[in-house]
Amino acid sequence: MDRIAADSYVLVYRDRRRRWLVRPKDTPKLHTHLGILDVSALVGQEFGATVTTTLGDELIILEPTIEDLVMKLARSTQVIYPKDLGLIMVKLGVHAGSRVIETGTGSGATTALMAYLVQPTGMVYTYDFNPEFQDVARKNIERLGLSKFVTFKVGDSRLGFDEGGFDAGVLDVGDPWEVVQSMKKALRPSAPMAAITPTTNQAEKLVAKLKEEGFVAVETLEILLRHLEARVGMTRPSNIMVGHTAYLTFGRTTRSPPAPS
Ligand SMILES: C[S@@+](CC[C@H](N)C(=O)[O-])C[C@H]1O[C@@H](n2cnc3c(N)ncnc32)[C@H](O)[C@@H]1O
Repeated sequence: MDRIAADSYVLVYRDRRRRWLVRPKDTPKLHTHLGILDVSALVGQEFGATVTTTLGDELIILEPTIEDLVMKLARSTQVIYPKDLGLIMVKLGVHAGSRVIETGTGSGATTALMAYLVQPTGMVYTYDFNPEFQDVARKNIERLGLSKFVTFKVGDSRLGFDEGGFDAGVLDVGDPWEVVQSMKKALRPSAPMAAITPTTNQAEKLVAKLKEEGFVAVETLEILLRHLEARVGMTRPSNIMVGHTAYLTFGRTTRSPPAPS
């Protein structure tokens, strides 16, 4: 197993809510309400160790997963949450070598996950019309070492994309129905796309447009995630639950019918 280096990301874990993502070179000492942890002393150690803070609290040193990394990215916008990202990636079949088109980039959370999945031979093309948001996303992707798998483009996706023949698409903008035609042109026939809308009326409008543009297998759904407090003999649902994140709409492109002669 790789040993922790000065530039390794390390997940300092106490429980689901108390966890910190740090790098020894950026945060030699981690100050928490549980005491101070000497992060620089972790260099050369293996992941999985239990360490003690200055107040005597025990923390576990874990190797971060892509979920840990994505959820700790700097945020300039709302991001798509792992519970939704998981199904989106399955529905889109994003895999090593996929070419994916995404708009908008936002904070790059979705971009990061897709870049991770398409490596080493695939590419994520991601468009945003706000260069400031894209700068935040670019830095996030750089920090994760995934820049080779992302092409950033500043542009209004309502006006179309410069590239085509994509295997899958992700649409996360305020007015997705305005971008459906651009997506249709950019995706190869039969390719799946996913769109994210915070409200049902946006989903309705989007679905109408997808059907008008010949998309098939159109479906809208919401994922409700409830944690359980699992303890022998006393397991019950957690008191706290995220009530709503987004509605997810999926669809697949078809070949346009031949123009009448
Ligand atoms: C909610 S954020 C996307 C978050 C992203 N999915 C993530 O997980 O980090 C929406 C983004 O869409 C961008 N946007 C909205 N309309 C757009 C358009 N027509 N063309 C390009 N980008 C657009 C906004 O600037 C914003 O950054």
